Amino acid sequence: MHLLNPRLRRLSALLLLTLPAWAGASPGQLERGRYMVVTGQCNNCHTAGYSAAQGRVPESLWLLGDLRPRREPEGTVYGTNLRHFMAQLTLEQWLLVARRGQPRAPMPWWNLRQTSDEDLAAMYAYIRSLQPIGEPMPAFQPAPGR
Ligand code: HEC
Repeated sequence: MHLLNPRLRRLSALLLLTLPAWAGASPGQLERGRYMVVTGQCNNCHTAGYSAAQGRVPESLWLLGDLRPRREPEGTVYGTNLRHFMAQLTLEQWLLVARRGQPRAPMPWWNLRQTSDEDLAAMYAYIRSLQPIGEPMPAFQPAPGR
């Protein structure tokens, strides 16, 4: 520690202070993450049959991806299995994906960008608390001639 300059020392003290909040999810954080996923409408496109059932899909099946092909002008996309996706990311990587990522239509990435760090962290904690089961979805297929 004595090797660190004062600025770094302050930074590492700050990191130690904020780490518990990031590292272990509290029940409140999981509850908030679940709320963000529901009201952020992630299930509509990332959970099979969710829209058709008007949301009546058991939580054990949430965010496993949607095999229903979505045909967009640029090609065919599938709602990603977000449990697998999140299981592979650190929190820092998730914040970067949410801030800078631009998945294909119809993913509303512009809304994700406006979500606060706290809420993104809560979503991360909640999605990672679900088991990373199921299969990754098929890869994007470009439309003919694209
Ligand atoms: C209107 C449909 C729709 C909604 C609503 C939606 N998504 Fe998506 N999302 C998609 C589709 C389709 C893809 C795949 C896009 C692609 O292949 O580039 C995607 C991709 C993603 C990706 C990138 C995955 C990757 O493999 O790079 C993330 C992360 C993501 N969505 C998170 C969310 C979260 C979190 C929510 C809720 C706040 C949400 N999405 C809501 C349709 C949607």
